[in-house]
Amino acid sequence: MNQIKIILYALLSTFLFQSCRPEHTVQPDDGIAQKVEALLSRMTLEEKVGQMNQYSSFYDVTGPAPSDGKLKLKYEHLKKGLVGSMLNVNGVKEVREFQKLAVENSRLGIPLIFGFDVIHGHKTLAPIPLAEAASWDLEAIRRSAEVAATEAAAMGINWTFAPMIDITRDARWGRVMEGSGEDPYLGTQIGVARVNGFQGNDLSSVHTLAACAKHLAGYGFSEAGKEYNTVDMSTSTLFNVVLPPFKAAVEEANVKTVMNAFNIMNGVPSTGNAFLQRDILKGRWGFDGFVISDWGSIKEIESHGMAANLKETAMIAANAGSDMDMESYAYVTHLADLVEEGLVSEDKIDEAVRRILTVKYELGLFDDPYKYCNEEREKELLYHPDHLEAVLDMARKSIVLLKNEGDLLPLKRDQKGIAVIGTLASDKNSPLGNWRLGSDNNTAVSVLEGLDTYCTYTYAKGADLSTGIEVFNQDLTINTSDKSGFKEAVTLAKNAEIVIMVLGEHGMMSGEARSRTQIDIPGVQQDLLEAVYEVNKNIVLVLMNGRPLAIPWAAEHIPAIVEAWQLGTQSGHAVADILFGRYNPSGKLPMSFPRSVGQCPIYYNYFRTGRPGPRNEVFFSRYIDEDRTPLYPFGYGLSYSKFDYSNLVIDDSDQKRIKVAVQVSNVSDTDGEEVVQLYINDKAASIVRPVKELKGFEKIALKAKTSQTVTFELTDKELGFYDPNGDYKVESGMFDVMVGTSSTDGLTGSFQLK
Ligand code: NOJ
Repeated sequence: MNQIKIILYALLSTFLFQSCRPEHTVQPDDGIAQKVEALLSRMTLEEKVGQMNQYSSFYDVTGPAPSDGKLKLKYEHLKKGLVGSMLNVNGVKEVREFQKLAVENSRLGIPLIFGFDVIHGHKTLAPIPLAEAASWDLEAIRRSAEVAATEAAAMGINWTFAPMIDITRDARWGRVMEGSGEDPYLGTQIGVARVNGFQGNDLSSVHTLAACAKHLAGYGFSEAGKEYNTVDMSTSTLFNVVLPPFKAAVEEANVKTVMNAFNIMNGVPSTGNAFLQRDILKGRWGFDGFVISDWGSIKEIESHGMAANLKETAMIAANAGSDMDMESYAYVTHLADLVEEGLVSEDKIDEAVRRILTVKYELGLFDDPYKYCNEEREKELLYHPDHLEAVLDMARKSIVLLKNEGDLLPLKRDQKGIAVIGTLASDKNSPLGNWRLGSDNNTAVSVLEGLDTYCTYTYAKGADLSTGIEVFNQDLTINTSDKSGFKEAVTLAKNAEIVIMVLGEHGMMSGEARSRTQIDIPGVQQDLLEAVYEVNKNIVLVLMNGRPLAIPWAAEHIPAIVEAWQLGTQSGHAVADILFGRYNPSGKLPMSFPRSVGQCPIYYNYFRTGRPGPRNEVFFSRYIDEDRTPLYPFGYGLSYSKFDYSNLVIDDSDQKRIKVAVQVSNVSDTDGEEVVQLYINDKAASIVRPVKELKGFEKIALKAKTSQTVTFELTDKELGFYDPNGDYKVESGMFDVMVGTSSTDGLTGSFQLK
């Protein structure tokens, strides 16, 4: 009888499960669905709840942890089958130990799934995601994620908490470094590329990871860029800006997991938000993976003021569709009671567990819980030469040339009299960025080491960036007064023909919980720059930073500026290759660079206002003390080549496929690459549309003195928008089109959609 029930249940659930899913997504194989049902039917309520519980290991913590680490409790729970997943377990040895605890002691021996923040590499680090986004090179980004997956999987990890696909517009927010910047179109393409890179074609391969699209939703819109702050946004922005990357991650890339967010959405914490998780994600989009909470975000429903105690938070989160609890201890403590009391239905528990077990089966963990645990593979693959090559390629492509007056760059191979100044030039840690948990400190190639392969130079740090005094045992305070090294630096600069200054933020000044109210070049570095400029104007400024910086003085005075972000393990080689012209810069900004912090949030795809200007009158949208435009706009970036755009042709004869063609010519003597960008503006619509929206781009390589015609097609997918109910609409009317080299520089035309 029981057997028949299981089969019927399996058939029914397979039917229900599949009927609401879009046809094009990969269907888990039927074998797995049946195995999941069979296992589920053998599980007690406590064991089911256990699968929904995730603990952090003791190796490192990535959120506020209980002071005693709850070690004893965690061990006990692992052995009793009350833990479904661990995070922050580092290395095969540790993974095996935890897996053993669960598999060999618990009644059903269900394997753990091991998650980790594999954000831009694991041992070998690629550039921070914001930098990678500047490459606009989807294949390189996919490959970078693939490398990250290979190394993390070799260390026993099965699941990454990446990609972060939050759209981010405020440079004050520390986590802009982890996303793809301000644009939903670019962010969507990159999100899909990253998920594909992590997950590959076969989740059960020992070289791939389950990916996690995070954070659903709106975390990137924290008010005033302050971490963990309130978010208050329109549904128009939610559907048109915030959700598209998530929708694509689910529908196009079949992402296996989604993480919810710390922030509220429409007054409801995302973690307890049924509209986001049940209606949109699992309902409208047919997401068939599972939802993980953010660290402690279930418990934080109480802090937000929507629950009176931990038990209520568990009820709200489970009912709202949060499938797994990261470090809140809410589910494991209260969920079984809530079911007994009828406050959460067991169906909802079953649904969550079914989702979690399915991913575990797909990863192959039931076939062999230790399949990711192989010390030899671990040794062979970490820092593998192919990986070093891939992240070097990615790093070169991520650099953005912001200014190059008088073609100061590239430097000649036989350039003499080079002075290098700035403590970041010798820093082997900061280029690794903030998310370097899985890697090793001081393993980046420094700029000095990169330059070593090209030239001789003199070096002075000029000033320390930080004082060495720690705050919260983690962050270093910034040196705002000690200028004792200036003299040495200025003397070197005086005697040099050219000065390379490496300035910016250290690695821990961006990332989670690293919001800033000042986004200029921090500490005494600006003064150092000005002091050196007094004696030598031939300065190449290399910026190292995890967010857009406001650098108006440098932009006005310094002849050459290179945005080198935090480029990961191969950082110094990539910078040197650019400075000496071995690689021709091809990056374009994925976020606008403001003139001053007061302009934040500043982004290119803003809404028109009733008084947009620009008119030289008082009563128009403007500042009285600052220009309204950014210092460097979205999509901007120079090359050592010169590109010319001509012959914009719009063919709207086929209204379902409007063709826009443009001729791009490399009019210089240098081979180069250009990102050709297409923007539209829906002139008058039923809701206000942004002044410009990126709707296509192509990165092309053009030999010196050659041309290429680039053609874009605009279909309903590009021309429509979501109304405030989330329904997609394509409306007739006039559209302006711009095709060019950045969001502010291109050829324009228009067409009518009938
Ligand atoms: C908190 C962060 O918001 C999230 O992105 C991360 O994955 C978790 N901590 C786990 O480290």
